[in-house]
Amino acid sequence: MLSIRGSNWGKVDFAHGKKDVYNFYTNPNGVVSFANAENWLLHDDLSDYFNQQSFDRQCCAYGEGYTGTLRLRSAMAKHLNTHFKAFTAIDAEEVTFAAGVTSLNELCAFILCNPNESILLVGPVYGAFYRDLTTRTSVHLEYVHVGDKDQFSPDGITAIEAEFQAAEARGRTIKALIICNPHNPLGRCYPRESLVGLLRLCASKGIHLISDEIYALSVYKRYDRPSEAFISVRSIDFTGIINPDQVHVLYGMSKDFGAGGLRLGCLISQNDELNKATRALCRFSSPSQFSMSLAATMLEDQEFIRGFLHKSHTLLLQNRLLAEELLREAGIGFHDKGISGLFVWIDLSAHLPSELSQEDAWAAERLLSHRLELAGVIMSTGEQYHAPEPGWFRLVFCVSEETLREGIRRISALLKGVAWSNLNSIAKCY
Ligand SMILES: Cc1ncc(COP(=O)(O)O)c(C=O)c1O
Repeated sequence: MLSIRGSNWGKVDFAHGKKDVYNFYTNPNGVVSFANAENWLLHDDLSDYFNQQSFDRQCCAYGEGYTGTLRLRSAMAKHLNTHFKAFTAIDAEEVTFAAGVTSLNELCAFILCNPNESILLVGPVYGAFYRDLTTRTSVHLEYVHVGDKDQFSPDGITAIEAEFQAAEARGRTIKALIICNPHNPLGRCYPRESLVGLLRLCASKGIHLISDEIYALSVYKRYDRPSEAFISVRSIDFTGIINPDQVHVLYGMSKDFGAGGLRLGCLISQNDELNKATRALCRFSSPSQFSMSLAATMLEDQEFIRGFLHKSHTLLLQNRLLAEELLREAGIGFHDKGISGLFVWIDLSAHLPSELSQEDAWAAERLLSHRLELAGVIMSTGEQYHAPEPGWFRLVFCVSEETLREGIRRISALLKGVAWSNLNSIAKCY
């Protein structure tokens, strides 16, 4: 017999991971997963680097506690000051580590909101925010859309403000706005003017801005058109705009460093009270001393970081261009303004199963997702990402070339009208 909340969590469909992963050489019938935002392109470099390191015996102990060693917090602060061009230098005391940004996202919801209060988000947006911010917190997420406006433009910010007011009129108490910059899943960066607009909006409403900047250094320059640059919210002078206590940044090792396995994320905030509350709760998501030692060594070695990031940008662009080429060949549309992150936002709306698309287009998207799964490809769906309209999927392109080709081949074969009744045989021969 479980508690009420225990039995509710028991109903969440969260299985152990599956091992049947496609590999051109060893498991050609395996499943191609374009779902997890992982940068597989750098794992050889990273593991070679880590394999050269040795650990101090202190790593075997609890160490300094559970909020990040001073060595790691100092190395991260220095790294951020260099790469985020922080307007007010970030101090190690403003940096708190936990076992991943996932955990810190939850802590922000816990600490900034009372039960039933809300956090505002603009869709489409990172789908797991829902799970991360709500599973344990009793916080409500208020998803809004900006219609035909571009959410990254000053016009988009005006539309967000209108949506904020509409949400309040519906009786919501909004305590924070969370953004992803660079954006997951669109791969866009917010221009400075729009960030200032968002800061002013949060100041005028008396709410917090949480800026998840986990893809900050995964921005690749396009040579076929102008590329947006990443601008951290911390590079802006807050004077006359907003109280610095209302602005919080999230960053970590999972994306820019391809090191999700380290399970290291950090909150960067000038809000002392928030930092204290976060430190109290970090007890429950403490990072490993071994992970912190590896991350500190890497961050202190900025020569390695420079080379690593340079290679990362080259490979990201290369894979993005290959993904675009394969998608075009397959006649699949996509959001073509992405210049960052590990994914491309693809448009399968023309392929929603017609038997459902008229009456319930989201159910049609779910059915298409299921059919893709049967055909051996997994992707996050527009519904999970709170897209404004059904039919969009997020395809992670940072996989091996063979995997990328095979996955898009399977999608294309499915869309090219292989009779649905033949799906089982497709599933067997993919
Ligand atoms: C926007 C965003 N925030 C946070 C995370 C999770 O980060 P971590 O691995 O540090 O928990 C992800 C992972 O996909 C992400 O896309």
